[in-house]
Amino acid sequence: MNEIKEFSPMKDGLNYKYYINGKWNVSESGDVIAIYNPYSNELIGYVQGCSKKDADEVINSAKENVDCWENTPLEERVNVLRRAADLMLKWAEPIGRILMQEIGKPLKSAISEIRRTADIFYATADAGSQIVGETIMGDSFKGFTKDKISMTYRVPLGVILCIGPFNYPFNLTGSKIAPALVAGNSVIMKPPSEGAITPLYLGVILEKAGIPPGVFNIITGRGSEIGDYLTGHPKIDMISFTGSSETGRHLAKVAGMKPLLLELGGKDAAIVLDDADLELTTKAIVKGAFSFSGQRCTAVKRVLPMPRIADLLVEKVTKEVMSLSIGDPAENKVIGPLINSKRCDFVQGLIDDALSKGATLKCGNRREGNIMWPTILDNVTIDMRIAWEEPFGPVLPFIRIRSAEEAIEISNKSEYGLQGMIFTNNIDLAFNIAQELEVGTVQINGQSERGPDHFPFLGTKSSGLGTQGIKYSIEAMSRPKVVVMNLSEKGKLIHECRG
Ligand code: G3P
Repeated sequence: MNEIKEFSPMKDGLNYKYYINGKWNVSESGDVIAIYNPYSNELIGYVQGCSKKDADEVINSAKENVDCWENTPLEERVNVLRRAADLMLKWAEPIGRILMQEIGKPLKSAISEIRRTADIFYATADAGSQIVGETIMGDSFKGFTKDKISMTYRVPLGVILCIGPFNYPFNLTGSKIAPALVAGNSVIMKPPSEGAITPLYLGVILEKAGIPPGVFNIITGRGSEIGDYLTGHPKIDMISFTGSSETGRHLAKVAGMKPLLLELGGKDAAIVLDDADLELTTKAIVKGAFSFSGQRCTAVKRVLPMPRIADLLVEKVTKEVMSLSIGDPAENKVIGPLINSKRCDFVQGLIDDALSKGATLKCGNRREGNIMWPTILDNVTIDMRIAWEEPFGPVLPFIRIRSAEEAIEISNKSEYGLQGMIFTNNIDLAFNIAQELEVGTVQINGQSERGPDHFPFLGTKSSGLGTQGIKYSIEAMSRPKVVVMNLSEKGKLIHECRG
C-alpha cells in the first residue's frame, strides 16, 4: 500500500488525515479514532476525530466552491467522473485489501466493491451527460395561451452532505458522490466511524481525476461530536444518508426542512409458494441471507414458506448453509466477523429470545470472537423478536404460513418496507401478491438486492425516504429551474379558423 506514491499525502504512518480544500490535514482537536480489524483485532490505523471548528472550515470550503463547480462545463464534470472511475479500477486491489481489513469483508467482495463503484461512476457520467430540460406551452392549461412558455432546466442544490454506512463504505458513499458532483453540487463526505479509512481514498482519486480544490471534501469524526452539527448546519443544502433507521429518524429531526435521501434498514421477507423451484429458491435464499454474513440492508431476513414445501425447503437451506465456509476474510470465507462485538451480542440476544420461546435450532448458534456461525431457526412465531427485528448478522428465521394472504399480512406488518420476494412458477399470482406488498421493490424468483445500480432503489415506512439509482439520484440531487417567457401583444400574428 505504502508503495503507491499517490497515497502518501493522505497519511502519516498509521495516522490518516481528513481532506479539505484540496489539502490533507490533521484535526485541531488532536483527537483520533482507532480502527481495528474485526477479525484479528489488529490496529489498522487512526482517522481524525474532527471538531466543530474543523467542520465549519470544511463547510465553508464546500460552500465557497459551489459556483465554480456549477459553472464548470458539464462535459468536464463528466470527464472528472470517468477519470476517477479509471483510477478506481487501477487501484481496486490495494484499496479493496484495506476495505477487507477494516470491515472484515471477504477480499474478493471487497475488491468488487471498488470495481462496482467505478461502474457507478461511468454510468453516472453517461446519465449525467444526458440531463435535459423541458419546454411547456401555456395553452395546455385552461385560460392560457401560447404567449406563456416555461423553460425548465436542472440546477444543483448546493452543498450535499454524503454519509455512508460501514457495510459498503466505499460503494455507498461513491454512489452518492457521483450523482451529487455530476449535477454540479459541491460535496462533504462523512465516512462511518467503522469503515472510515477506505472512503478516504476517494479524496486521492478525485483529486487526481481533476476535481477543483474545495469541491469535494472529507470530514471524519465522532457522530456524537459533529454528527448533529453537520446535519443541522444551515449551509448544508441536502443530505444523503445510508445507515440504521434509528439514526435516519434522528437525522431527519435535526435536518429540519433540508431535502433528504435516506437508505435505512429492512426486514425483507421471502414468500415461498408450494409450486416454487426449490433448487433456485434455496440458492437465492442462502446467497441473499448470508453474503457478507448478513450485514446488508437488503439481506433476506425472513422466509415465509407454504406448508407443502416447508419441511423440504428448511432441510435444503440448512444443508447448504452448513456447507458455507467460515473464517478469515483474507481467504474469502463466506462467513466472517461481524463489525463489532456489540453487534454479535445483539444477534445472540435475538437467537436466545427465539429459542426460549420455542423456535427450532437447525444449525449455528455458535460464536468465536466476532464470528457468529450461520444460524437457521425454524418454527419461528410472531411473538419472537427475530420475526420483526433486523439482526444485521447471519441468522435466518423461517415463519411457516398457511396461505398467501397470511404471508402478505406478516410481510406488511413489519415496520420496514425495503424489498420483498416471491418464489413461485405462477406468475399471475406473483404479480397479484407483488401489488399487495408495501415495499419499494418486489423480486420474483430472485433474492433481494440493490443492483443493478441503474434500477430505482427505495424503501417505504422505516426503510427510507426518496429514490436512489443512477438517474434517480441525479434528479434527487438537483432541482428544476423554471424560466417563463411572457410574449407581448407586440408582433402578434392573427390566426383564424376559416371553417
Ligand atoms: O446494505 C446496503 C444495501 O445497499 C445493500 O446493497 O448490493 O448488497 O444489495 P446490495
